[in-house]
Amino acid sequence: WSATAEKADGVLAVGGVPLPDLVAEHGSPAYVLDEADFRARAGAFRDAFADYDVFYAGKAFLCTTVARWVAEEGLCLDVCSAGELSVALAAGFDPARIGYHGNNKTADELARALEAGVGRIIVDSFHELERLEALTAATGRAARVMVRVTAGVEAHTHEYIATAHEDQKFGFSITAGDALEAVRRVLAAPGLELLGLHSHIGSQIFDTSGFEVAARRVLALHARVATDLGVRMPEMDLGGGFGIAYTTQDDPAEPARLAAEMTAIVEHECRALGLDRPRLSIEPGRAIVGPSVCTVYEIGTVKEVALDGGARRSYVSVDGGMSDNIRTALYDADYSCTLASRTSTAAPVLGRVVGKHCEAGDIVVKDEFLPGDLAPGDLLAVPGTGAYCRSMASNYNHALRPPVIAVRDGVARVVVRRETEDDLLATDVGATR
Ligand code: LLP
Repeated sequence: WSATAEKADGVLAVGGVPLPDLVAEHGSPAYVLDEADFRARAGAFRDAFADYDVFYAGKAFLCTTVARWVAEEGLCLDVCSAGELSVALAAGFDPARIGYHGNNKTADELARALEAGVGRIIVDSFHELERLEALTAATGRAARVMVRVTAGVEAHTHEYIATAHEDQKFGFSITAGDALEAVRRVLAAPGLELLGLHSHIGSQIFDTSGFEVAARRVLALHARVATDLGVRMPEMDLGGGFGIAYTTQDDPAEPARLAAEMTAIVEHECRALGLDRPRLSIEPGRAIVGPSVCTVYEIGTVKEVALDGGARRSYVSVDGGMSDNIRTALYDADYSCTLASRTSTAAPVLGRVVGKHCEAGDIVVKDEFLPGDLAPGDLLAVPGTGAYCRSMASNYNHALRPPVIAVRDGVARVVVRRETEDDLLATDVGATR
């Protein structure tokens, strides 16, 4: 739960706003974004990593309001598409403090990034390097680049969100020599300024040992570039991926501990390699916005089924589902939930919170003990939905994506409005109304 969430007489309030009041005014489902919590987490990373550049990873969740909070809290911004860049620019975010990612940036996207004056482009492939060389030559605009390397680390997380093993799409392989070759290419290109190497090992990671291995391998390449090519690269980025607690079983580290551990690892390696410590940067997304949001849903139907062995499960259908949170279906992610609109003294039953989409895998919370008297009209709140829920939301079954409502000091403010059927029809050129 975010820092300001409080339950009194069974009613959950966030940012001083009781969720039943919020739903009465704005409808459900809704993402409820706790501004104070977001700012506190952003500030905690800024302070703990005071001598780093902290880039908030906008892919976790981005809108213009959040981009402004990121700027106000003194963080830089990581974007990975032209769409995210346009949101950042629409918010007035300083382009010099933006890093631009992506494994398949088009020439148009690169041109826009150069034109906007983004502070760093993280190059991911030889084809991208060719495009960038051609663009800088044609326009006379220089690009500051980092080379994304594959550190060869097996991060202990879901296969789809691990990104530093060899057999996946991102980055230049260190082992195969591609990373060194990419560095040479950047150094030889007149329009490109090499900042250093970038590594991102994956997401929802609890164990800093993956960062340790990655840092060691990336710094070894920094050292090799210094000895073989005579170039001291000034920066190194260790990516994001810091895990958060989705259930009581997860135990994430505080930013201060992460910072101390990561700095110690880098300093130790630099000493061993005889390198000056490069300026470091990180890119946390989930660890900042994930806990700041909960999703509030209204229950529409409840049915009980008999399980093998005589136990029972209660299927609680809510008015959203995999279109506003795909993570359970896609990654087998664990979420929890709570009754947010009243007290209940009913005995708990094993429940499963499901959505309203046309497939059986449309599950929001796999298993949770819920009050046995849940009924249509009750509100459920699911915590920890700030990262990769709204940003991965879809219009499956022509669902309308829910609004994002920022709450603070008893005031609720829509920062992304609910979609309407007109929004859906706006792209359908055959529509007659
Ligand atoms: N930097 C880079 C280069 C990344 O690729 C990512 C995430 C981040 C930073 C931020 O990672 P974070 O701190 O948020 O873990 N959709 C998946 C997560 C995909 C992460 C993609 N890259 C999920 O819902 O778990």
